[in-house]
Amino acid sequence: MVSSGLAKRVDVSQYRLAVHLTVACLIFASIAWVWRGLAPHHGRALPQSPQAKAAGGLLFLVLLQIYLGALVAGLDAGLAFNTWPLIDGAFIPEGLGVMKPLWHNLFENIKTVQFVHRMNAYLMFVLALANMVWLLRSLPGTTHANRSVILFGMVFLQAGLGVATLLTHVDIGLALAHQGFAVVILGFAVANLRGYFGEYPRSAGVARA
Ligand code: HEM
Repeated sequence: MVSSGLAKRVDVSQYRLAVHLTVACLIFASIAWVWRGLAPHHGRALPQSPQAKAAGGLLFLVLLQIYLGALVAGLDAGLAFNTWPLIDGAFIPEGLGVMKPLWHNLFENIKTVQFVHRMNAYLMFVLALANMVWLLRSLPGTTHANRSVILFGMVFLQAGLGVATLLTHVDIGLALAHQGFAVVILGFAVANLRGYFGEYPRSAGVARA
């Protein structure tokens, strides 16, 4: 009979949780990158375009947001301040920098960690929206433009799930949906970027012995 370890302690350090989740997501993203490269592409590859750089930036923000989400979950920050759009009565609450040294607040201060996760979500929302409007104008009717619409829709839905998770004091079903959907968004953001680089070149003939 096991009477120690995880049988008793179901809590882990937020640092380890965040690094573990992010590394798992990096592995998943790498697999998705190769998998999408093996699939046939219908859209035109535009690897040097500014739109490709924007797709890379959005992918980075998704990964960062997943890291920040794990800090929120690891600190049980979703149980501490359950209001939206205000945190502790203000949009920018007091006490974000009470810990010394200052950078500790980014990882240890429950209020700051929740605030940063929320602000990065808003940033993603605004940039995904701007990206969609830009793509619909600059590359209308293309797969790239269609993907930008889907990506924005996903970020919108995910932000709604995040707010619902918070307001329900971390209802387990909503928390799992919020966590799981983050991985779906990540996979889609990889596919979106991969679309600008095109599929792997296919060999023209059969190799002879
Ligand atoms: C828009 C993009 C968002 C992404 C990609 C995202 C991603 C994540 C991820 C991956 C986690 C779970 C980490 C883990 O379980 O280890 C998480 C947790 C959480 N997120 Fe988000 N999030 C987003 C937006 C939001 C928003 C807008 C809010 C609320 C205003 C929010 C509130 C929360 C809360 C409360 C938790 C902790 C849930 C728990 O303790 O299990 N999220 N987020």
